[in-house]
Amino acid sequence: MSRATNRVAVLHGVNFDVLERRDPGLYGGLSLAELEYRIGGWAADLGLDPIFFQTNSESEFCGYLHRVSETADGAIINAGAWTHYSRAIGDALAVDPVPAIEVHLSDVENREEWRRVSVFEGLVEAKISGKGPDGYRDALKRLATLLGVGADAAE
Ligand code: DQA
Repeated sequence: MSRATNRVAVLHGVNFDVLERRDPGLYGGLSLAELEYRIGGWAADLGLDPIFFQTNSESEFCGYLHRVSETADGAIINAGAWTHYSRAIGDALAVDPVPAIEVHLSDVENREEWRRVSVFEGLVEAKISGKGPDGYRDALKRLATLLGVGADAAE
């Protein structure tokens, strides 16, 4: 029996639970709940079914990635600062891979030098940064195309 292939895990890492308290000039002042609400609307328009997860625990983040294909067909990952140094999280994504897009609200290419490094390089389909919440919309469209879901809605 075939099953839907439209499930997208939207994973946020360290410090996203306090997103609304972080620099609004960089991160827009939205709370994570508000960001997830927007993502949920865009996902529905595209025929995608999002599953949200956030943790400040690197161990939990790795554990989620170890089993991500059990609950999702694709992933959007914003691992926050872990992106730039956690080889463990990069390795964890390789354990049980699903098509994944790396997203950052801020323009990590044009901030401090160390933010240009990503442990997901070579492991993700694309990296989208500096577009604020709209970057997630772009990532959802990319995943919809990759998963062959809602081709019309995805343009
Ligand atoms: C971030 C960029 C990271 O460098 C930073 O550590 C974050 C947020 C972003 O979404 O712009 O926590 O991932």
